[in-house]
Amino acid sequence: MWVFKQSNQMSAWAHGKNSGFVPTMGFLHEGHLSLVRRAKNENDVAVASIFVNPAQFGPAEDFDAYPHDLDRDLNMLEKEGVDAVFTPSVQELYPNGPEITVRAGPLSLPLEGQFRPGHFDGVCTVVKKLFDVVQPETAYFGQKDFQQFLVIQEMVQSMKLGVNVVVCPTIREIDGLAKSSRNVYFSNQERKKAPLLYSALREAEKKLVQGKKPRHVENEAKLFLEENGFRVQYFRVASAETLEPVSKPEGRVLVAAAAFLGKTRLVDNVVFVV
Ligand code: PAF
Repeated sequence: MWVFKQSNQMSAWAHGKNSGFVPTMGFLHEGHLSLVRRAKNENDVAVASIFVNPAQFGPAEDFDAYPHDLDRDLNMLEKEGVDAVFTPSVQELYPNGPEITVRAGPLSLPLEGQFRPGHFDGVCTVVKKLFDVVQPETAYFGQKDFQQFLVIQEMVQSMKLGVNVVVCPTIREIDGLAKSSRNVYFSNQERKKAPLLYSALREAEKKLVQGKKPRHVENEAKLFLEENGFRVQYFRVASAETLEPVSKPEGRVLVAAAAFLGKTRLVDNVVFVV
């Protein structure tokens, strides 16, 4: 497995290859590995990147605390048969600081956009740079960050980047909690409660399919989560295409939520057809 720290070396290796690409911030888990397996199966070569991107963290967020273990990550990727890994430094990707950035499109504004201003600009900026370096045919993202997938797809279409963007199912623990690098932050007690977010999303899906009104479903879910110690930022029923709130669910529906449990922020969602 090749490991490149320099963009020009990564690009030279990738040039002319049909590659499937999995961008990550490291501290890998089964969710990332499921993306890597897909990239490997569907392309000639699989490339992953590991880079904790400062531009997508707000000033009060966990950039400094973000978990990392590069040796462990590289071992995991090698076992999966990944062909090359790009692990640039901050200086390598942002030699002049955040001078030239991408402004994310309208799909970045609702949901996460209301609570993490600038987050998707940071995501789009780094993903654009990574795509330029790796030149992938197809890039793979997890459904847990469904809005991120839509925002990146919007950027790719608008800027004609010519990369296929694929969303893959969320991988969960046995109790339903979505796998996330940030799950290591939970205390034992918080970890026991954390799967209730997914339970609330599934319950909401059931009620919406039965024809209950989205506003009622949202309010009931928020109440349930607050009673169980979550601090809910949003619990929203929206179109899975436009992210607009819906008053009568039809077609592909997204129910997305973000909530704090202690100091840890969880995001999760379900997508289904009504
Ligand atoms: O989903 C992530 O891990 C990050 O947002 C990404 C896509 C690697 C960009 O830094």
